[in-house]
Amino acid sequence: MARAHSVYRCTECGHDHPKWVGRCEACAAWNTVAEEPLRLSTAAPKARGGRAAGRREGAVVPVPLRDIEKTKLLRWSTGIPEFDFVLGGGIVPGSLALIGGEPGIGKSTILLQAVARLEARGIRTLYASGEESPEQVRLRADRLEEDAGPVLVLGETQLENVIAAAEATRAQVLVLDSIQTVYTDTLEGAPGSVGQVRESAALLMRFAKESGIAVFVVGHVTKGGAIAGPKTLEHIVDTVLYFEGEPSLDYRLLRATKNRFGSVDELGVFTMTGRGLVAVPNPSAVFLGARSAGAVGSAVTALMEGSRPVLVEVQALAAPSGYGTAQRVATGLDPKRLAVLLAVLERRGGASFSQQDVFVQVAGGLRLTEPAADLAVVAALLSSLYNRPTPPDALYLGELGLGGEIRPIAGLERRLSEAGRLGFQRVFGSGRSSPRIPGITHFGLGGVDEVAGTLAA
Ligand code: TYD
Ligand code: MG
Repeated sequence: MARAHSVYRCTECGHDHPKWVGRCEACAAWNTVAEEPLRLSTAAPKARGGRAAGRREGAVVPVPLRDIEKTKLLRWSTGIPEFDFVLGGGIVPGSLALIGGEPGIGKSTILLQAVARLEARGIRTLYASGEESPEQVRLRADRLEEDAGPVLVLGETQLENVIAAAEATRAQVLVLDSIQTVYTDTLEGAPGSVGQVRESAALLMRFAKESGIAVFVVGHVTKGGAIAGPKTLEHIVDTVLYFEGEPSLDYRLLRATKNRFGSVDELGVFTMTGRGLVAVPNPSAVFLGARSAGAVGSAVTALMEGSRPVLVEVQALAAPSGYGTAQRVATGLDPKRLAVLLAVLERRGGASFSQQDVFVQVAGGLRLTEPAADLAVVAALLSSLYNRPTPPDALYLGELGLGGEIRPIAGLERRLSEAGRLGFQRVFGSGRSSPRIPGITHFGLGGVDEVAGTLAA
């Protein structure tokens, strides 16, 4: 048997190096290059040659797209509407989905709840756990609202065995908890190594596609936020879901960042209770729930989370700084964006924060990824600086340009309908938009210098 060779592969970008290096030549990340044994070269080439030869004789004929029959995508509902929604309308048979998140966030819990509900709907499931023993899974199941009794469990870390069990039990949905604890026989290397993780994922993908079984794999997330193991794992699977949340809060946010069968960035909000995770059907009300009207340094905006508008509170605190450089701390938004907004306020808004420590945060653990939230950040900053609250029934929606101009934003009317539902009556936005939503008055602002004028006395 030939000795297996190894490559040195970056765990961030997957670039191969002929020898170990401290810094990846492709993505310049430090300390990410790991030795990875190549596939054992015994059986593999033969199988491959055999298949290729078979193909050459057989008919592999491309067909015009118009001749391909439209099939309606079948989906299984998990019975957890928020989970279905994030998946794009339910589980697609034959798909492979990855659920990432920090330890303890609730990945195992939500999947166990989902398979329990699937069983109740007559869909056969198998929950394979390399993380926990079947006894531990049972203990968790006993806490849940759902009856997980009929769910088949398997404590196994060898992937081929898991797949064989799924076939033997004729499962329709397979959960594998987690990808970092399984290993495949086709590769050398410990479970959780880059090579094992990727090869296991590829194997599961082939299995899912050939068998029509829907597979969910759990993946742990590193401190930096990436799913541990190679980034390429995310390229292999059909769907990537992230489970996030502030450890101190009970909210759990489930988000799709990749979905071959639906839209991305859809958000599902859950709370962790003593009986498992419970979906929150009205996230805006939850995120605004803790807000006290009339508080200084607070402004409300509407974010588009996928196709759904969600109202959030932006909080700012400006406090005179001591000696030295003033601090800027941003939680839930890009610190660079905050720096830009502060500079625009200084030059075009006539408000100086140069002698102020500035802290900005977004309530509920959400993130401001859209420029549409600029105006709310600015309003919260000015509110804190001048010690005047924003009006309790007002929303701020607009992007700030470097010239201090306020630009129109996308999806304005959808955001405003959500605001109207929650009792908001006014919106401050760009002077160039004129949305018509019953019950909400739109006030167009020409520039950032007019924002201070919107604050209450
Ligand atoms: P878990 O699903 O094990 O997280 P992960 O698989 O992502 O590591 O979640 C475990 C946490 O959730 C743990 O801190 C206990 C808590 N929990 C509840 O609060 N209520 C429950 O009903 C369950 C099952 C767990
Ligand atoms: Mg777990």
